[in-house]
Amino acid sequence: MLLHTVCVALSLTRLSAAASSFAGSTSTFQFPPANVTVTASDTFFPDAEQVGFAGPTPTGDEAAAIVTAPSVAKVEQAFPLVRPDTLDNQGTSFNVIDNWGNLSPFKSVASFGLPNASAAIPAGYTLTQVHLIHRHGARYPTSGAGPATFAAEIHAAATGPSFNATGPLEFMNTWTYKLGAEILTPFGREQLFNLGVGFRVKYGELLKGFDDLPVWRTTSEDRMVDSALHFAAGFFGVRRYTTDYHQLIEIEADGFNSTLAPYEVCPNANNNISSFGTVQATKWIAQYLVPAQKRLSPFIDGFNLTTMDVFNMQTLCAYETVSLGFSAFCDLFTEDEWKGFEYALDLQFWYGFGPGNPAVSAQGRGWVEELVSRLTQQRITSFGSSVNETIVSSDTTFPLNQPIFVDASHDIVITAIITAMNFTSLAANGPLPTDHIPENQTYIVNQLAPFASNLVGQVLSNDGSSNGTHIRWILNDGVVPLTGINGCTEDPNGLCDLPTFIAGMQQRIQEIDFDFDCFANFTIPDPDTITDGQFPQ
Ligand SMILES: *[C@@H]1O[C@H](CO)[C@@H](O)[C@H](O)[C@H]1NC(C)=O
Ligand SMILES: *[C@@H]1O[C@H](CO)[C@@H](O)[C@H](O)[C@H]1NC(C)=O
Ligand SMILES: *[C@@H]1O[C@H](CO)[C@@H](O)[C@H](O)[C@H]1NC(C)=O
Ligand SMILES: *[C@@H]1O[C@H](CO)[C@@H](O)[C@H](O)[C@H]1NC(C)=O
Ligand SMILES: *[C@@H]1O[C@H](CO)[C@@H](O)[C@H](O)[C@H]1NC(C)=O
Ligand SMILES: *[C@@H]1O[C@H](CO)[C@@H](O)[C@H](O)[C@H]1NC(C)=O
Ligand SMILES: *[C@@H]1O[C@H](CO)[C@@H](O)[C@H](O)[C@H]1NC(C)=O
Ligand SMILES: *[C@@H]1O[C@H](CO)[C@@H](O)[C@H](O)[C@H]1NC(C)=O
Ligand SMILES: *[C@@H]1O[C@H](CO)[C@@H](O)[C@H](O)[C@H]1NC(C)=O
Ligand SMILES: *[C@@H]1O[C@H](CO)[C@@H](O)[C@H](O)[C@H]1NC(C)=O
Ligand SMILES: *[C@@H]1O[C@H](CO)[C@@H](O)[C@H](O)[C@H]1NC(C)=O
Repeated sequence: MLLHTVCVALSLTRLSAAASSFAGSTSTFQFPPANVTVTASDTFFPDAEQVGFAGPTPTGDEAAAIVTAPSVAKVEQAFPLVRPDTLDNQGTSFNVIDNWGNLSPFKSVASFGLPNASAAIPAGYTLTQVHLIHRHGARYPTSGAGPATFAAEIHAAATGPSFNATGPLEFMNTWTYKLGAEILTPFGREQLFNLGVGFRVKYGELLKGFDDLPVWRTTSEDRMVDSALHFAAGFFGVRRYTTDYHQLIEIEADGFNSTLAPYEVCPNANNNISSFGTVQATKWIAQYLVPAQKRLSPFIDGFNLTTMDVFNMQTLCAYETVSLGFSAFCDLFTEDEWKGFEYALDLQFWYGFGPGNPAVSAQGRGWVEELVSRLTQQRITSFGSSVNETIVSSDTTFPLNQPIFVDASHDIVITAIITAMNFTSLAANGPLPTDHIPENQTYIVNQLAPFASNLVGQVLSNDGSSNGTHIRWILNDGVVPLTGINGCTEDPNGLCDLPTFIAGMQQRIQEIDFDFDCFANFTIPDPDTITDGQFPQ
């Protein structure tokens, strides 16, 4: 039945008239065929162990490129995604893919204001420990997001007699909606595999400090488990990742404590306080997309395009590209319209999931408490944020002494954590206006929370001991200045004394009123007054 739908759509691509009643319809497919089963011991297909003859298998030594190489290899491409063009191709290096906010694939950020800093370990320091928190890879839209709604509206209109798309929109007459929801796309799996490979090559030598199997964490959502496993497959190899570490899966569901999904225990993360980001972004969308709406409207009969529809078309470009490798929606827009799209997502994050929202630092607090626990080797004893007492009280599920920590989480958790940690340089130019893109914008979501975003804390030592003396933070390969944290002084490599950093985090934990910011019934005060993700004291 489902296959049948796909075939009909394909055969109609050659007919343009009468085809339109299929436009916007949802097509879906499942593999393998339902009647095929895999038998555990298949005599025709014995596994490698049964076959034998593996050849020589010497293991070699661990890599430590972050220490040994003078510079760090950058992630620059998003193979196999087809790089879109712009409508007004200006022949510049502008890349549409880099302007999709949290829907952009991770690429290395050159600098967060420390132009001379590199993620490679600075001279005079040794690496003692690394803390990684990463986002899942590219996924389909979340349930109920704009693209599916837009497709349904197009489909409803297309069944009417007057629907007709022409010119640059002609493809929409036969366009079907092929995206699922929530789960990783094949490209998203590649991203996490690559992140795991990259981490092994950069930090593999730290494995020598483990005296037990690593315990790495993710949450229970399908794409989260899939991301964590692909990271591990990249790090350990597909033949080893089921045996070489423990995967802790924290429940991500309403009411369950997990610092990797803190919104589940923070009511103000689920009401109109958190949707303030959408309110602010919508003001900008209603402005920057007016020219595109006017330009495209004449090419579609029987459907009145709104600026929100046009925004959904831009969103579809991003999702179709990271899911299907290519999207016909991309080339419809100018370079400025893509800059506007990125800025809409910057607004959404600043006011919904970043420094401009009063319930955001509270959401980041739990992970910061866990970080302090890991850095001080002291267990958490006082509970009152998203921390899960059962998980962090056990050495089995929450070991404190790992040389490599790996946590998998979400875009809006990473932006909450960097707000809670007082990475104030990212908020340096203050609250974002909703009517223009400010000069020297510093809060750029494609650099903070793209698909496969990764925040790395490097614990370093300058006295040869195995205990760290310094720490620094690297977000998507860009070193972040820590000068917003009390006591951390300016440093060209982004370093801060470890005890000073820990004291700053302890102060932040005290400063952030989880109960009030997450549970109180308040109206957002003047948004221009909030830059620390907290309700003003
Ligand atoms: C759609 O519009 C084009 C251009 O006006 C026209 O040539 C075509 O016949 C129309 N198709 C339908 C199905 O109305
Ligand atoms: C599965 O079902 C399809 C369609 O009925 C059939 O063509 C195919 O041969 C079946 N495959 C197996 C392995 O039985
Ligand atoms: C970066 O290095 C250059 C060359 O050594 C130096 O002139 C410049 O001041 C440095 N910039 C910063 C911000 O440290
Ligand atoms: C803590 O996490 C465990 C495992 O995910 C879960 O079973 C338990 O309900 C959580 N505790 C709370 C208070 O949410
Ligand atoms: C589009 O808007 C016009 C003017 O408001 C209205 O007359 C028309 O019915 C609308 N068309 C559709 C398909 O909604
Ligand atoms: C779970 O989270 C709540 C905050 O919503 C916190 O008050 C409580 O102490 C936590 N409980 C456990 C058992 O971790
Ligand atoms: C933006 O940065 C440039 C270069 O640093 C500076 O000259 C300019 O004054 C800044 N503009 C604003 C509005 O801060
Ligand atoms: C490292 O820190 C641990 C725990 O704080 C302490 O027991 C140990 O003596 C320290 N080692 C060195 C070489 O300073
Ligand atoms: C966090 O940043 C704010 C504003 O820049 C500052 O007032 C506060 O002291 C900082 N807190 C810590 C613990 O560094
Ligand atoms: C929040 O306060 C407003 C105004 O006092 C009230 O109307 C509303 O019902 C309250 N909401 C909740 C969830 O308590
Ligand atoms: C959210 O809605 C409640 C009840 O409708 C209202 O009292 C409150 O002011 C709203 N908050 C924001 C941030 O808009």
